[in-house]
Amino acid sequence: MKHFTQFDDKNMAAALIEQALAFKSNPRKYADLGRGKRLGLIFLNPSLRTRVSTQIAASNLGIESIVLNMDKESWALEMQDGALMNKHTVEHIKDAAAVLGSYFDMLAIRAFPSLTNKTEDSDDFILKQFIKYANIPVVSLESAIRHPLQSLADMVTIQENLRNKPRPKVVLTWAPHIKAIPHAVANSFAEWSLGCGYDLTIAHPEGYDLDERFTAGATITHDQDEALRDADFVYVKNWSAFHEYGKIIHVDQPWILTEKKLEKSPEAKVMHCLPVRRNLELSDEILDSPRSLVQQQAHNRIYAAQAVLHRIIS
Ligand code: CP
Repeated sequence: MKHFTQFDDKNMAAALIEQALAFKSNPRKYADLGRGKRLGLIFLNPSLRTRVSTQIAASNLGIESIVLNMDKESWALEMQDGALMNKHTVEHIKDAAAVLGSYFDMLAIRAFPSLTNKTEDSDDFILKQFIKYANIPVVSLESAIRHPLQSLADMVTIQENLRNKPRPKVVLTWAPHIKAIPHAVANSFAEWSLGCGYDLTIAHPEGYDLDERFTAGATITHDQDEALRDADFVYVKNWSAFHEYGKIIHVDQPWILTEKKLEKSPEAKVMHCLPVRRNLELSDEILDSPRSLVQQQAHNRIYAAQAVLHRIIS
């Protein structure tokens, strides 16, 4: 594997899930495999889980990791090729990525979307600029349009809770939020769920359709109650509008998930990538209940990252 930026194919996903579960049972099995290798963790945006879980994953493999919070601690980057840099940007991505590529054996990048430039965001422009100029393997720590390490951890978590159902009903349901939130987690969760062969339903209010590149093959509805019926897994996530790009069309509190809404899906487990705004996106009642898999998902981030790093250095 050279880069890890998206769902590749079902076989690769199955192998990564299996490897992640193996690392969960024996995290230090290949404790020396990465000895002498160095991973640069480059953050253009904040993080708790992604940052710490990937550092632990690297440590479990003997890989040295160095974090650079580029948004706070480094130079303001120019991303456009050919730019006249006479405004606020100080260093070109062409130079910065090439330098980082010479310092590290692999890079991991977090670069959120602008939510204002739909063309660049949809093309994953910043991530691609890093890949273009770093010239070493790159792992996405959440890009403008995808969060593949989160989705791999989510697939591991589903695998652990399948209860012998080869094709579970998985529901991705929109949740209220007061801020314009990226589409990456929702896109990726749809991409991986469909790629793994799950029966995916996506429920959202009108105006919140996701990019069809990620949702083709899913059942899409505005009827949340119908979507939730007989669900095995309910993934709760907010995202801003895609067609009216980056807009909050409404903060529709009736879309918050409650126990009452899950009456017709008694076995349903509830997932969220975290961080979550309690009682806005998801209620205490659900988050603190036995249905909630959120802590298991967050814990599995370690083994998802470890499986990916292991694949890159093997
Ligand atoms: N779920 C997730 O990516 O969490 P962080 O933003 O804290 O890394």
